[in-house]
Amino acid sequence: MSGLSAWEQFEREQRAINGEVSGEGLSQVVRDLLADIPTIEQPNIYPMEWHGDQTGKLAQLYERAKREVWNPAELPWDQLDPKDFTREERLGVMYWYSVLANFDGSGPPVFAKAMIHSYEQHEPDPVRKCFFSITRDEVNHEEVCQRTVTKLWSPTPTEWKPQNELEALALRNIRWLYYNGGRYWKGYSEALKKYPMAVLFSSFMMGEVAATTLFHTMAKQATHPVFAQGLRNVGKDEARHMAICLATLEDYFPHLSEDDKKLITKQLRAGFVFLSMILYEPPDDFWKLPPEYLAVHREMESLARKAGLGVATLDIKREVWRQAMFKVKAVVERYGIEFPAMPEVGITGKEVVHIDFNDVIPVF
Ligand SMILES: [Fe+2]
Ligand SMILES: [Fe+2]
Repeated sequence: MSGLSAWEQFEREQRAINGEVSGEGLSQVVRDLLADIPTIEQPNIYPMEWHGDQTGKLAQLYERAKREVWNPAELPWDQLDPKDFTREERLGVMYWYSVLANFDGSGPPVFAKAMIHSYEQHEPDPVRKCFFSITRDEVNHEEVCQRTVTKLWSPTPTEWKPQNELEALALRNIRWLYYNGGRYWKGYSEALKKYPMAVLFSSFMMGEVAATTLFHTMAKQATHPVFAQGLRNVGKDEARHMAICLATLEDYFPHLSEDDKKLITKQLRAGFVFLSMILYEPPDDFWKLPPEYLAVHREMESLARKAGLGVATLDIKREVWRQAMFKVKAVVERYGIEFPAMPEVGITGKEVVHIDFNDVIPVF
């Protein structure tokens, strides 16, 4: 990649055609013919163009995504019989997938927005296509949440009538969680316009590392065949998303400014705080939750575990999340980016104090 962003490169060519800068090779006749074409106001998805390496890692990952499609409707759903579970176990599984939906279920609009943004920024064609493939995958991941929750409980996890105190507490947790999800969505939507792609992709990478870690850990521990197969399939997609982020960052990272590096350190900490909700336990920094939240959350997870969902225990979660963060640390430090301290999982590093939690960008 040259020092110029894709958009700067494109703009320079455009200006050469318009005769604003030296348009070597263009005759006066040609220049006159092209001079009165109005310039398209940017950011804009127009003009259409397909620049970028069509044989590189990203293009290959996009091809791989096309080959690896799977259909969530074809999981053996007839083996997921509500009668095989106690009501409490069904509650636990429904709860867990509703929590997951806060992250994975938001994937379709989150990535669709990122895809549109990448078109408006005239990012290389393989980058835009990879965003599309991730959006496609995320609709599948949302469908897994949808089918599980619907089959075991109700298609509307925030609208049902609790029959006892435990159910009321579970419902309350889900509603509180989605309230926080709503705060994330607002922040994400604004942040997308504010940050350069390199910063955005660093946050995306955090989410994809988190997702890969979560699904691989759970797939190994799940004992119910529908859960195990679903988690395996989703995990395979997430690993590809992670590879997409890493391949993109290899292009962006060598050209980072010092300010970008500082921003990335902050966003890595923000990502950790946001994603810890599902990978480990929610730190207070971002999460606004009632005091009883955690106890209820733990109880729901233990019910889901009993039902064969493969939810890791707190000790295992902490260790796999810690290992995952070490992987990210190794990647970013290679490019001179300071890794933030994550004392929750015993990682020392740069103390990050001033984070604007109004713009948290990680995706799943
Ligand atoms: Fe996902
Ligand atoms: Fe993902």
